[in-house]
Amino acid sequence: MNAIRAEGLVKHYGEVRALDGLDLTVPEGTVLGLLGPNGAGKTTSVRIITTLLKPDSGHIEVNGIDVLRHPDQVRRIIGVSGQYAAVDEYLTGHENLEMIGRLYHLGKRKARARAEELLERFNLTDAAKRTVKTYSGGMRRRLDLAGALVISPPVIVLDEPTTGLDPRSRLGMWDVISERVRAGATLLLTTQYLEEADQLADNIVVIDHGRAIAQGTPDELKREVGGERLEVTLGSRAEAQSAQEILTKVCASEAIIDEAAHRVHAPVTRGSWALIEAVRQFDAAGIEPVDIGIHRASLDDVFMKLTGQAPAEPSTEQEVAA
Ligand SMILES: Nc1ncnc2c1ncn2[C@@H]1O[C@H](COP(=O)(O)OP(=O)(O)O)[C@@H](O)[C@H]1O
Ligand SMILES: [Mg+2]
Repeated sequence: MNAIRAEGLVKHYGEVRALDGLDLTVPEGTVLGLLGPNGAGKTTSVRIITTLLKPDSGHIEVNGIDVLRHPDQVRRIIGVSGQYAAVDEYLTGHENLEMIGRLYHLGKRKARARAEELLERFNLTDAAKRTVKTYSGGMRRRLDLAGALVISPPVIVLDEPTTGLDPRSRLGMWDVISERVRAGATLLLTTQYLEEADQLADNIVVIDHGRAIAQGTPDELKREVGGERLEVTLGSRAEAQSAQEILTKVCASEAIIDEAAHRVHAPVTRGSWALIEAVRQFDAAGIEPVDIGIHRASLDDVFMKLTGQAPAEPSTEQEVAA
């Protein structure tokens, strides 16, 4: 069963085509990372899923409920940060969180405990007894995130939940997210941080200009775009040049040399075989690598390649495939 299913979402803001036929599915109990650069359409997608914005066309369901027809029902099963402006300026941080818990019938003791736990997680314990009026922008943002996590809704949607967070709050956020998913929640989070998508998401949809340009598990995306390469660091420029010849033969593909770093690399398909064969031939040629290994593409490489944000000359293609 899919907790979120969107089909053919289109949304314009005047001339701007913010969403251009976006499809998304999030199986129940999984985390989808919606990854894309600024202006890709992440927030627009989130606002549509969370009933705050109507698409020009397309279909969207949350837990099988039609979002456009029954927004009230959807609001009851979805937890959202940032948009409900639920935070009351004249209450303290603690009171705000406790109030949300009480509103959702958590019970006094539980609401308090949850408030304390979240304040701690989001690095707000020292400010817990101050009214929100006195909070900085960053503190408000953290309180708002905490507010979205007071109760445990079955579907959680977070728009760039860690953008601009201090490292400690970011880790706190990751912990809370992981706990909620372990407890069975479904989560959609948008992010510009590849590392975050890699860490948290079961599946990733990369969007650009309102369209999905790639999707899969983090591993699938890395494999699809980057593949593997064999990389060797040598002790001298002369050795690096000899190694370049050997790698070109072993990998059956022109090896790239970085003469200044004494480093050589080439794309490989059968990584471990190529590694062994290269070591054998280096040995025969009296070359002793300082370092040798297989490198997988990182999600950064995938992203850069897909969104075309890296230089696209042939020689840098190789760099991108690192
Ligand atoms: N209220 C708005 N009015 C006009 N254009 C908008 C509005 N909101 C977003 N856009 C435009 O729609 C596109 C997608 O924006 P958005 O969904 O906010 O992207 P993201 O969250 O990925 O940065 C961008 O080109 C943005 O400038
Ligand atoms: Mg956004």
